[in-house]
Amino acid sequence: MIPETMNAAILTGFGAPEVIRIAKRPVPRLKPDQVLVRNHAATVNSGDARIRARNVPKGYKFIMGLVFGFRSPRIKTLGTVFAGEVVATGDAVQEFKTGDRVFGSTELKMGTHAEYVAIKAKDAILPLPDDHSYEDAASYIFGTGTALYFLGKAKLQSKERILINGAAGSVGIAMVQLAHARGAHVTAVASAGNHDFLKMQGANEVIDYHTTDLRTLPQTYDVIADCPGNIPYAKHRHLLKKNGRFAMVTGTLAQALMAPLVKLIRPHKIVGGTALATKSVLKNILKQHEAGNISPVIDKRFEFAQIAQAHAHVDKGHKRGNCVIRF
Ligand SMILES: NC(=O)c1ccc[n+]([C@@H]2O[C@H](COP(=O)([O-])OP(=O)(O)OC[C@H]3O[C@@H](n4cnc5c(N)ncnc54)[C@H](OP(=O)(O)O)[C@@H]3O)[C@@H](O)[C@H]2O)c1
Repeated sequence: MIPETMNAAILTGFGAPEVIRIAKRPVPRLKPDQVLVRNHAATVNSGDARIRARNVPKGYKFIMGLVFGFRSPRIKTLGTVFAGEVVATGDAVQEFKTGDRVFGSTELKMGTHAEYVAIKAKDAILPLPDDHSYEDAASYIFGTGTALYFLGKAKLQSKERILINGAAGSVGIAMVQLAHARGAHVTAVASAGNHDFLKMQGANEVIDYHTTDLRTLPQTYDVIADCPGNIPYAKHRHLLKKNGRFAMVTGTLAQALMAPLVKLIRPHKIVGGTALATKSVLKNILKQHEAGNISPVIDKRFEFAQIAQAHAHVDKGHKRGNCVIRF
């Protein structure tokens, strides 16, 4: 029996985690091409925290305002990732049935920090194999999806050397795992407390950014992936080999606009953009799991009622992997 109302996390404004309230909202009304999912697991990721706090890289505030609102939030319920059980399907849906275990992403439509999520069957939703828990499935999507996007664009090859800055975060750990699986030589940059863990994830070498200025490294790399966006290409390009690629996971608007020009004047390429979790990305995540190339990394689990605390944890900027919300 599907109730009329559900609990949803609502943004009452932009700012600190305290702007989030749990409130009753109508369960989404199902359209003919949609699936209704009873959500069992989601994540609070760096993207959710950025939107809530209006904390975006320099130059993006206006664009962000157009999408998410300037003074008050246009999208009240954040969250892109979900994993749960299908409880209803629209008349035109054939691929899913009630009771199916599924996982997916609503991307810019958001709304997964709620007990029920409606999504078009053709969008980013897939059946979830029995050997995946809901929490593991939810934990993969944001970081692994982004890592697949950037490693793909950077065309990382076996035996190449990659430097991954921000290696202990959601995106960074997935990059370490996937780069290792591709047979690359991985140098991971993180605090010393994460070094042993990162070696277990596939890092060949580790560097502590607290004690080492990356600009002084003696080694050069085929690929540099900058997850936090604090080692700009302009100041670190001497660390790239000829034909090296710089994966700008985070960068300012000015850096993004200049990026295409780099390959005209230097023997390098900057790859950037926004990773979206499409259906084919979800398929690739399952494929990587089956091949043993990725494993879930969950730093902390929070009950849905504690979602503001989960945001506060993400805000600290030191989570290891992913922060999961249980419903
Ligand atoms: N372009 C895209 O499509 C896209 C998609 C997803 C995410 N992003 C962006 O990518 C970035 C990373 O996302 P995420 O979800 O992986 O973040 P995250 O999980 O919140 O990252 C946390 C990690 O950052 C590390 N860190 C903190 N300060 C650091 C520093 N000064 N140097 C190196 N590492 C540092 C921490 O490691 P220690 O605890 O060891 O310090 C921690 O493990 C964010 O800026 C996000 O907005 C972009």
